[in-house]
Amino acid sequence: MKPLESDELVLTDAQFRMFRDFFRDACGLSFGDDSRFLLEKRLARRVRELDVGTFTAYHYLLRKDSSGDEELSQAIDELTTNETYFFRERNQLNALVNEILPELLARRVSGGPPVSIWSAGCSSGEEPYTIVMMAKEAGFEPGKDFRVYASDISRRMLQKARQGVYRPASFRDTDPVLQKRYFEEKDGCWRISDDVKRHVTFTRVNLLDPPRVALLGTMDVILCRNVIIYFDIETKRQVIDLFGQKLHAGGYLLLGHAESLINISSAFELRHLKHDLVYRKPLPGESERDAWQDAAAAAIDRVDPCDEGGRR
Ligand SMILES: C[S@@+](CC[C@H](N)C(=O)[O-])C[C@H]1O[C@@H](n2cnc3c(N)ncnc32)[C@H](O)[C@@H]1O
Repeated sequence: MKPLESDELVLTDAQFRMFRDFFRDACGLSFGDDSRFLLEKRLARRVRELDVGTFTAYHYLLRKDSSGDEELSQAIDELTTNETYFFRERNQLNALVNEILPELLARRVSGGPPVSIWSAGCSSGEEPYTIVMMAKEAGFEPGKDFRVYASDISRRMLQKARQGVYRPASFRDTDPVLQKRYFEEKDGCWRISDDVKRHVTFTRVNLLDPPRVALLGTMDVILCRNVIIYFDIETKRQVIDLFGQKLHAGGYLLLGHAESLINISSAFELRHLKHDLVYRKPLPGESERDAWQDAAAAAIDRVDPCDEGGRR
């Protein structure tokens, strides 16, 4: 008799450590002991789908992947969330379009290239498409004023992004007027207009693969939002260091609202823009400031000057 599915695949201590180390090294994902059950359940799905029989055989297949890390991409899809939606963390995107983009364009030498914006970890494309829509709404010309590049490690997500067809959940924070302006509805799904789509260049990049990252040019703005949250501290440092190398001096780094560079890097300054807090790579001659210093300065600013403890 065929055993029950739950009896078939149990992750041993040694197998758990094996997968934990593999995913940390291959793509930065960090799994603590509390993720053991998740790892067992999600990887078991792949073991069954591929019919390889055991976790050990699946681990071997991942390591020896002859399909150019196709299986790694599938496994990551099983293990991470690709959650995203249009106009997510809108204040920050307002800062990008209304403050950062005008500043960078003002600094551009006459006839210079468009401002380059990279959405690193773009999932199914809502983030880079939102940037194009918002910049167009603000009167900027894609291709001339700015150019958007977008990447993800997941082939499945990139395929969705390139198709540009979305379900209603992606529009949970979208103004219906803009939805009608930039999308066409068909059978309950919404297709993005070519006029937005053609201004985003999608490419597959594992952020832990520096030679692959090096193929992208130097950027003026990098958005890496809700991605490094899954990485351990060493991997975060490695990726942020890489972003520092990929950014022009005076360029900006935009992280998710739950993410910061505290304890990770002092190569960026924290900037208080009108719409949001963002990180900036200093220009030559400007001093690199510690994110802690900025946070302390902001805290001191907030102290009431009439208060005994006021510093003014
Ligand atoms: C939660 S989504 C964030 C999407 C979007 N940036 C946003 O904030 O809405 C995280 C994305 O990071 C991608 N990701 C995870 N590890 C990665 C890596 N090592 N290299 C590139 N992308 C990665 C995942 O595939 C996923 O699509």
